[in-house]
Amino acid sequence: MKPTRSHGRQSARPNLKPRALMQDTPDYADVWQARIVTLFPDLFPGVLGASLTGKALQEGRWQLHTHDLRDFGIGRHRNVDDTPAGGGAGMVMRADVVGPALARAQSHAHGRWPILYMSPRGRRFDQAMARDLADCAGVTMLCGRFEGVDERVIEHFGITEVSLGDFVMTGGELAAQAMIDATVRLLPGVLGNAESIEEESHASGLLEHPQYTRPAEWEGREIPPVLMSGNHGEIAKWRQAQAEDLTRSRRPDMWAARESKD
Ligand SMILES: C[S@@+](CC[C@H](N)C(=O)[O-])C[C@H]1O[C@@H](n2cnc3c(N)ncnc32)[C@H](O)[C@@H]1O
Repeated sequence: MKPTRSHGRQSARPNLKPRALMQDTPDYADVWQARIVTLFPDLFPGVLGASLTGKALQEGRWQLHTHDLRDFGIGRHRNVDDTPAGGGAGMVMRADVVGPALARAQSHAHGRWPILYMSPRGRRFDQAMARDLADCAGVTMLCGRFEGVDERVIEHFGITEVSLGDFVMTGGELAAQAMIDATVRLLPGVLGNAESIEEESHASGLLEHPQYTRPAEWEGREIPPVLMSGNHGEIAKWRQAQAEDLTRSRRPDMWAARESKD
C-alpha cells in the first residue's frame, strides 16, 4: 500500500493488539518510527499501548519496533555483558553485542534519525527535544541495563545521551517510553484538539493555569467565579495571570528565561 501523506493515517488491522502491530506492519517512509534496542522487548509497547498513543499506534500514525539484544548475544548463553575493564562493581554491556543490534536498527533508518542512549549522564529531556524528535523521520533508542554500555559504542555511532532526570533507574525502558509518549502526542492527528498542546505547560515557556470541572462546588470549594462567567476575555486574562504566577513561584528558572527573552 502506498503512503499518502506525511504522518497520515495508514490502514491498520483493527483487531490486532498494539504489540502485534509493533512487529507485523510494513514500514512506511512517512510514518514516524521508534526503534528500541533493549534486553526486554516484552516491556513494549507498555504504557504506549494505552489511550491516545495506543490508538494512534493501532491507526498507523506512528510505528514501534524492538530489537532484542539477546539475539545478538555471544556464545551458547548469548551473553550480552561482561565485567568492567579496570575492575569495579557490576557488568557492562558489550560493544560487540550492542553495536550489531544498533546497526540492525539503523538499517531501517532514513532521513533525520538520531540514536539516543537513555542515560542519567545525558542532557535532560525536555519539551524542545520532544518537538525536535517529532520533526525527525524516526528515532532509535538504546536502553541500558547494568552499569551501562561500553563507551566505544557511543563514540562509534555518534550517539546522544539523554536523561529522564537526575535520578538512576535500573534500565532505560521507562525513560524511552516517557520520551516516546511526549513525542508521539505532538505528531499530527494524534491529539484531537491541537489547541490543548499550545496551552500546555512548557509549550509557551509557562506552566499551565489550574484546571477545574464539575461539580461547581466540592468539599466547600468553589470553582473560581470568573471561569463560570462566560466572559472569554476575562477568562483568558485570568488564566494568563495564573500561569505567570505559578511559573514565577514554582520555576524561577523558567521565569528568568522568559524575562530575558522579552
Ligand atoms: C543502573 S543504570 C546505569 C547507571 C550508570 N552506571 C551511571 O552511573 O551513569 C542502568 C541503565 O538505566 C538507564 N537509566 C537509568 N537512569 C536513567 C535516567 N535518569 N534517564 C535515562 N536512562 C536511565 C540507562 O539506560 C542505564 O544504562
